[in-house]
Amino acid sequence: METVLSGIRPTGNLHLGNYFGALKNFVQMQNEYNCYFFIADYHSLTTHPTPHNLTGNVREILAEYLAAGLDPEKAVIYIQSDVPEVAELYLFLNMNAYVGELERCTSFKDKIRQQPHNVNAGLLTYPTLMAADILLHRANKVPVGKDQEQHLEMTRTFANRFNRMYNVDYFPEPQAFNFGNELIKIPGLNGTGKMGKSEGEGNAIFLSDEPEAIRKKVMKAVTDAGPTRPHQEKSQPIENLFKLMKAVSNAETLAYFEEQYDSCQIKYGEMKKQLAEDMIAFTAPFRDKIKELLENKEYLSNVARMGKEKAQENARKTIRDVREIIGFRSL
Ligand code: TRP
Repeated sequence: METVLSGIRPTGNLHLGNYFGALKNFVQMQNEYNCYFFIADYHSLTTHPTPHNLTGNVREILAEYLAAGLDPEKAVIYIQSDVPEVAELYLFLNMNAYVGELERCTSFKDKIRQQPHNVNAGLLTYPTLMAADILLHRANKVPVGKDQEQHLEMTRTFANRFNRMYNVDYFPEPQAFNFGNELIKIPGLNGTGKMGKSEGEGNAIFLSDEPEAIRKKVMKAVTDAGPTRPHQEKSQPIENLFKLMKAVSNAETLAYFEEQYDSCQIKYGEMKKQLAEDMIAFTAPFRDKIKELLENKEYLSNVARMGKEKAQENARKTIRDVREIIGFRSL
């Protein structure tokens, strides 16, 4: 069976964009693939060198993963730092990664612009750590968004280079994967691009948000002056509201507001109220489950331990093989 692997950095709570963009698919994938889903806490140190409440953030993401339907009996759900074998593979891959190719990576160039005061070697070698995550489990498929495609391409480069250098056929070439589903890009509430935690306060609706917080954010969502002619093309902010509605509301509700828009009768306040209530109803089961899980520390720690054991078993095998391939043998 093919192996699917994905990681997420614990730098904020999961939002509807994460859910529709990936998580929802993970829930299906775990039935058909050998899945590894992990929390990339080592990676978070590249941007958050002195993380506030690292363990707490990791625990929250774990609870949110489980609340969204990831099943520790079906998939291996683990915390990156629980499997330090990845650090050894990262070291090996770094020996054959060229500074030039790492410097040319788009995400590195973005990051040095964003944090010029902290251009650390971890940022430069972010792609080799990510490659190590993937190759550690010899994953075939990696569900990634556009922003991670270059990292995946670099992973293929590193895998092929390793195979060539040591004249083996050990690492498979991981491919991007979306489970055949058209991925829905969920926009944020600020009228511009996609939903994201880094796009500013109020742009994202988190799975754990309380109803009042959702109402507040949605009511503040950016709109425009309203259509002045029938079937007018929608501005970006309005297009975004409709996309969000399409994701969480039922078809009749969506059709009603489409009709109101097309006939220039739409009241954005009314639409937002409805959208907020539908988002609240949609997220309610997640929110309740997240709360319940966070209160059950023992269960969460058991899930983490189980994931660690399974991931480590596979990781140790890979490290044993790789050491052998490179030529580390006992004297
Ligand atoms: N870089 C990914 C992100 O920021 C997170 C990540 C780390 C990852 N290691 C991975 C994703 C391995 C897929 C596979 O979204």
